Amino acid sequence: MRIGLYGGAFDPIHNGHVAMIKGALGSGAVDIVIVIPSARNPFKPGKALTCAPYRYYMVKDVVEDLFSEKVFVSDIEFKIEGVSYTDTVVDRISDPEYISAFLDEQGFSSVEAEEDHEFYWIAGSDCLETLWSWHNASDLVSKTGFLIALRPGDDCDIPGVAAETSAKLGVPVNTTVFDIDGVEVASSDIRRSGIFDEIPGAAKAFIAEHNVYEAGKILEYASDEACSRLAEVSIWMYGCLGRKRLLHTLNTGLLSAYLAKCHGADIDKALIAGAVHDCAKELPIEEQRAMAYKRCKDLFVDEKLLHSPAGAVFYNEAFGEEDQEILDAITYHTTGRGDMTLIDKIVFLADKIEPSRNYTDLSPIRKTAPEDLDGAVRLTLESVVDKFLRKKRPIHPLTEDFMKSLGMK
Ligand SMILES: [Fe+2]
Ligand SMILES: [Fe+2]
Repeated sequence: MRIGLYGGAFDPIHNGHVAMIKGALGSGAVDIVIVIPSARNPFKPGKALTCAPYRYYMVKDVVEDLFSEKVFVSDIEFKIEGVSYTDTVVDRISDPEYISAFLDEQGFSSVEAEEDHEFYWIAGSDCLETLWSWHNASDLVSKTGFLIALRPGDDCDIPGVAAETSAKLGVPVNTTVFDIDGVEVASSDIRRSGIFDEIPGAAKAFIAEHNVYEAGKILEYASDEACSRLAEVSIWMYGCLGRKRLLHTLNTGLLSAYLAKCHGADIDKALIAGAVHDCAKELPIEEQRAMAYKRCKDLFVDEKLLHSPAGAVFYNEAFGEEDQEILDAITYHTTGRGDMTLIDKIVFLADKIEPSRNYTDLSPIRKTAPEDLDGAVRLTLESVVDKFLRKKRPIHPLTEDFMKSLGMK
């Protein structure tokens, strides 16, 4: 099969990207296209890019909505440790074991999946001009051809540039050109302006559901270290949580950071504690129990609660986190406790009201939260207790202590 590879940050995916995919397929030069959202950006620190899982799932939604059968999304970048350059990505994706398993998963027959494939990196003419300087360029050029998009008015001499690049690298560069309609749009402008006219409907819906770019603005106030940690934990949790829970826990981190800013708490700590608070929730229950025991002996017995102390241990063991304020906020995010810190309360609250939560009308609590933290926590506790009573579940003694500390019965 002739496989087009289309990599990028897709922050957010927009109509220009869609035009590239359509143009590449329409050229007849490739049979399918695999879209590859980056996990880390080699040229920008953590703060510059929206966390990888948001970009990956947004691209998936758009591809599923607009294309069928011929366009797929790969998460290979999540599996590459450290900085991933184009040559690393092409190397990994063209590995016969990877690509045949990937195609098999997409429903191709084993004959189609296991045949010898040709690869074409899809890019604009500006990329071709700098190709000679890319990381391990000769190696890259020997593994993949280049499918170059020409926009109206683009007068780049593709054969000339390709010949020059071949001479510089000492390896022939295989290029094919295709025309695309000119969609003049850049992700950075979309992010800056907050105007989402030039992005596909499925991306718009995704951004609205998770409040992605509005919520992400709080990272301006977080340190570079915390932003890098957030980027790393988001990639780590992609390996241990399903889509819904992963996006929920990341949303909680961003909202926690926002609430920390509103109430004078440490933004970095709230961000990280919130972002990882549910990291252990999909581990086998016995693993959760063993981890929970390490932190709190048998203070937590209910299976639904084990993931809170287990999460503190899981995150500590994966990243060497020793900050007790962060670890406590994770530990007590389900039950609360008598002497809740500001960060404990913030994470407890953000968990219940992050943007994708819609179990009940949360607007009164959402409205109260930035101005009156205890007031919003009280409203949340009232509805939690109500739910427990209806389901005839006992209230945890720690939650009773928490309520007493807020003057509730
Ligand atoms: Fe939880
Ligand atoms: Fe949660």
